[in-house]
Amino acid sequence: RTAGQSVADLTGKHVLVSAGGTREHLDPVRFLGNSSSGKQGYALARIAAARGAKVTLVAANSELPDPAGVQVVPVVSAQDLYDEITGRAADADAIVMAAAVADFRPADVVEHKIKKTADGAVPAVDLVQNPDILHTISHDRARPGQIIVGFAAETGDADHTVLDLGRAKLERKGCDLLVVNDVSGGKVFGSDLNEAVILDRAGTALPVPSGSKDALSGVIWNLVAAHWS
Ligand code: CTP
Ligand code: CA
Repeated sequence: RTAGQSVADLTGKHVLVSAGGTREHLDPVRFLGNSSSGKQGYALARIAAARGAKVTLVAANSELPDPAGVQVVPVVSAQDLYDEITGRAADADAIVMAAAVADFRPADVVEHKIKKTADGAVPAVDLVQNPDILHTISHDRARPGQIIVGFAAETGDADHTVLDLGRAKLERKGCDLLVVNDVSGGKVFGSDLNEAVILDRAGTALPVPSGSKDALSGVIWNLVAAHWS
């Protein structure tokens, strides 16, 4: 089945999707962030709604317009995203974590804008780790039969291929499917195209050739629907 066909095979299901990139504020006007556009998560939400699902999209700092028929919940930080996803997990038949979540946040958020001082001293920023949303929901399993999908953008290194890293991450996170993007050489970020390998817990690696984010979304929902049937 392709993304373009109007098959209402997700009717009666509630899906929860995260999108965008979190921002971790240092002061009222500055943050640590990332360059996630939100396109993949918005495509997942739009395609699921087109296939009949009830869709909640928890969106972190994306400029994209709300997809038709989708409930959009805006968030800023990883902690906000954690609160919204864990708070809604028990109502979801599937959860897809397409958001780029900051691993760390500043230990303190300064209430007023940080100023330079006359002596040229440079402030130090202490970081603390954010909660791991995917790990939490995968290990808690708030609803029987729930399917949980993670994303991982990896660059291989001297000792590990992208797939090795993906397999280890799937195991560590405890999700059902992991969509692995090879981002060596600056691929994917902000692009309208996506190329991926989808790993499952049985050890299958499904390559998805380069195509639109809508097409990859269609494949992901096909795999989720297959788990339900
Ligand atoms: N994720 C999450 N909560 C976090 C960090 C990541 O839910 N605090 C989710 C992402 O949305 C993604 C998946 O986990 O679906 C993998 O993210 P990734 O950054 O690759 O995983 P990490 O465990 O943070 O590993 P790494 O050290 O490689 O960044
Ligand atoms: Ca990370």
